[in-house]
Amino acid sequence: MTATRQAGLFQEYNNNYTLKPVNLRSVPQRSPFRYPGGKTWFVPNFREEMNHMRTKPEMLIEPFAGGGIISLTALFEKYVNRVIMIEIDEDVAAVWQSVVSGNGPWLADRILSFKLSRESLLSELSKPATDINERAFQTILKNRTYHVGVLAKGSGLIKYGENGKSIGSRWYPRTLADRVLNLEKISGRIDLRLDEGIRF
Ligand SMILES: C[S@@+](CC[C@H](N)C(=O)[O-])C[C@H]1O[C@@H](n2cnc3c(N)ncnc32)[C@H](O)[C@@H]1O
Repeated sequence: MTATRQAGLFQEYNNNYTLKPVNLRSVPQRSPFRYPGGKTWFVPNFREEMNHMRTKPEMLIEPFAGGGIISLTALFEKYVNRVIMIEIDEDVAAVWQSVVSGNGPWLADRILSFKLSRESLLSELSKPATDINERAFQTILKNRTYHVGVLAKGSGLIKYGENGKSIGSRWYPRTLADRVLNLEKISGRIDLRLDEGIRF
């Protein structure tokens, strides 16, 4: 999401709930995903609301998990003991399934050893994923190289990248691998459901 869009969403929320302005730089980037419509902008307000709760909740449910920034914040910052993340998209869910099943280190290695070029990307994404971990890797690859991170079928590769850069403009292997490895600290407290959020 662009900074302008984030500011717009914050303003919209602020108009409705009269919350104080917050500093978005205070939000650590913990998710391997980049998401149009991500909720990073909401994190400072989430913290404030959680800090005002008299009793610490045991569990948080994030019904449209995506990049899962609210769940990750809730666990890393100890607002809850466990989270249920619900995600309807099998590709997106595969990333969380891989992490939750203890395959974060494998995923991190896979990210680090992939040499990105247009050819290697197209070749990798044309292969059927053989298991959940390969599917997770392909999802991260797509999310970081497709136009504004959109994973929907029919969306395309970054043509000129953002700010005139190439498909590699959002592929930071070391940073992504570190984020995935960091998730090991809290992965045992995530319950991932491939399901429909509202129904759940
Ligand atoms: C905009 S993203 C969420 C962003 C995320 N909370 C974050 O901050 O990174 C929306 C996600 O919700 C998922 N989703 C959409 N409709 C859903 C539904 N009915 N049930 C569960 N997940 C859904 C999408 O597949 C997508 O991954």
